[in-house]
Parts: sequence; structure tokens; C-alpha cells
Amino acid sequence: MSEAAARREGGEDPSVARLRDEVWERLNRRVLSSRWFYDRRGSELFEAITRLPEYYPTRTELALLEAGAREWMGRLRPGVFVELGAGSARKTRVLLDALQERRPGAVYVPLDVSAEFLEATAAELRVEYPDLRIEPEVGDLTRPLVLERHGEPPTLFAFLGSTLGNFPPPAAVSVLRHVHDAMAPGDIFLLGADLRPGPGKTVEELEAAYDDAQGITADFNRNMLRVLNHRTGTDFEPEAWLHRAFYDADAGWIEMHLVTPEGAEITVPGRGTVRLAPGESLRTEVSSKYDRPTLDGLFGAADLEIVEWVTDPRQRYAMVFARRAS
Ligand code: SAH
Ligand code: AVI
Repeated sequence: MSEAAARREGGEDPSVARLRDEVWERLNRRVLSSRWFYDRRGSELFEAITRLPEYYPTRTELALLEAGAREWMGRLRPGVFVELGAGSARKTRVLLDALQERRPGAVYVPLDVSAEFLEATAAELRVEYPDLRIEPEVGDLTRPLVLERHGEPPTLFAFLGSTLGNFPPPAAVSVLRHVHDAMAPGDIFLLGADLRPGPGKTVEELEAAYDDAQGITADFNRNMLRVLNHRTGTDFEPEAWLHRAFYDADAGWIEMHLVTPEGAEITVPGRGTVRLAPGESLRTEVSSKYDRPTLDGLFGAADLEIVEWVTDPRQRYAMVFARRAS
């Protein structure tokens, strides 16, 4: 009997089988996927991170949105607003307020891989915005975006919070390519991008944003192991792993790892056991920090063209508008 047939025989759900295959392959490379942070608890922990004194990106982006939203929405007047990786859509309310004022009747489409959290977000927003049409979509940005026609053109696609940075460069280009392919001529793309250290941002400040004094980021990091235990039946002991985060200036990104001081043996059901030596680590996330040339390159590779670049006065964060180059 083939291995695949044996799994079917064993009653393994196809989506669990795919996930176990990926976890097995990634564990052997010591590189996990940051999309596994976000079950309900992970999304709540991320929310707590955004309120930490050390985590400057959220409040810096919020200030830029507050300063620009009404002017942008007045100029673009989108009939549809698709938000990629929406999460709790907390900052989005600034854009939604401006959208309602400038283009009544527009449709808001929050899209996220985390179905549970997305529904909760949509339910809250429907109470807060009874006049807004809200049509959540579950979607994975690593795959082509299949979107129904939700309303009148143009569509504004927004990808906030610098989540693009969580996709290492080749994957980031493919995400941007999926956005490009979903856009019609005349549509616009708005990206929130965290910038590299410079005069307005030290490396220490940057690293502290990923290693806070209260240990919330450490908890968020370990939550991935709980998610994997729950979804795939692995036997990680989350509390036995240490959180580590550092800035790699050559790569231009923060790396988050989980370190096993004692060493670990992890079994992926039906696949095998991986053994890690004491002190080895699993990379759980990268968070790329950008500058204009790097983003011009990534956008160019996805056939997108930057048309506007707005930063805060200290150049810590950028809001980037782009359109299809062809
Ligand atoms: N936009 C919010 C939330 C950021 S948290 C903010 O700026 O604060 C990152 C969000 O991206 C999470 O809600 C997570 O579920 C989503 N996400 C991560 N990987 C994804 C993927 N591959 N496809 C779609 N959404 C993804
Ligand atoms: C969602 N994403 C942009 C966050 C970031 O900053 O890369 C996730 C995060 N990881 C640790 N802290 C926050």
C-alpha cells in the first residue's frame, strides 16, 4: 500500500495530512512558518503586543493613518476596500470612518487566514458600522487571491502592520504578485512598512520591540508550539523553549527563534521524530525592515509601481501607495 493510501486508511484528514507534511519538512530545516502563530490565543497575544510600550510599529502606523485617511479616501473614493491580513482591524477603523464619509455604500472585505478571529472581527464591526457592508473572506496570501466582485470600482487593497515583512523576500514577491493579479487597472494598493534602523530608530529600540520586558512576545512565540500540538498532534513542551529575537543587519530583518536549552525530541504523527541538540533553535519568524530601494525592488519584481511614499517625521515607518505597472 502506498504511504498516501495508508494515511487515508488511517483516517487522516487531508488538511491535517498536508499540515503534518509541512511541519515535518520544516522541522527538519529548523524553520517554522509564522502563519502558525495565529489561532485565537495567538491573535489575542498579538493584540497585546500592539499595546506594549516597546512595540512602536502599531502606534506609528496609526498616527500616519490618522493624518492621511480622510485625504486618501477623498482622493481614491474606493467602492471596495479589501484589507489583507486584517486581524482585529483595530487601526482599520480610522480608514473605515474616512471611507464611510467619502464613499457611502462602499464594501469592506477583511481577508485573513485565521477564520475564527476574522468572524469575531466582522461581528464587532457590524455592530459598530451598521451602514457598512462587511464581507469577510478567508484566504491565504501565499496562494493566488480569488475574490468575488464585491462592489463598484476602484478597489483599494491595504496590507497594514508591516505583515509583508513576515514573508521572506521570495515569498514577499509572490504575495505582491497575488495582489497585482487581483488588481484591475485603476485599483490601488496601500502597504504599511516598518523601516530599517537609522537616525530615528536604534537597533536596540528595534530589538526591544521583539523582546519586551513583560514577556508577551515570548508567550506569542511559544504559542506556535501549542498551535502545532493542537492541529497536528506534535508533542512540543512549549514551556521548555526560550524566546530569542535579534536584528540581522545583512538580511535587514528581525529573526525570532525558540531555543531548546536541554535539547528536544519532537514526533510528528505518522512522519517521524526530529532530534534537536541542546542549544539548537527553530526559527519561527522573520520580520523584514525596509527602505525605499528594497521596496522598489520587491514591488518591481511583482510588476507594481510605487506612486507615493509617506513616512513619519523620524522615518521609522512608511505608508506606500502602488499601482499596477502593467
Ligand atoms: N493588520 C493587523 C494584524 C496584523 S497580525 C495589524 O496591522 O495590526 C498579522 C495578521 O496576518 C494575522 O491576523 C494573521 O492571521 C494574518 N496572516 C498571517 N499569515 C497570513 C497568510 N499567509 N494569509 C493571510 N493572512 C495571514
Ligand atoms: C504581524 N507582524 C507584522 C508582526 C511583526 O512585527 O513582524 C508580528 C510580531 N512578531 C513579534 N512581534 C510582533
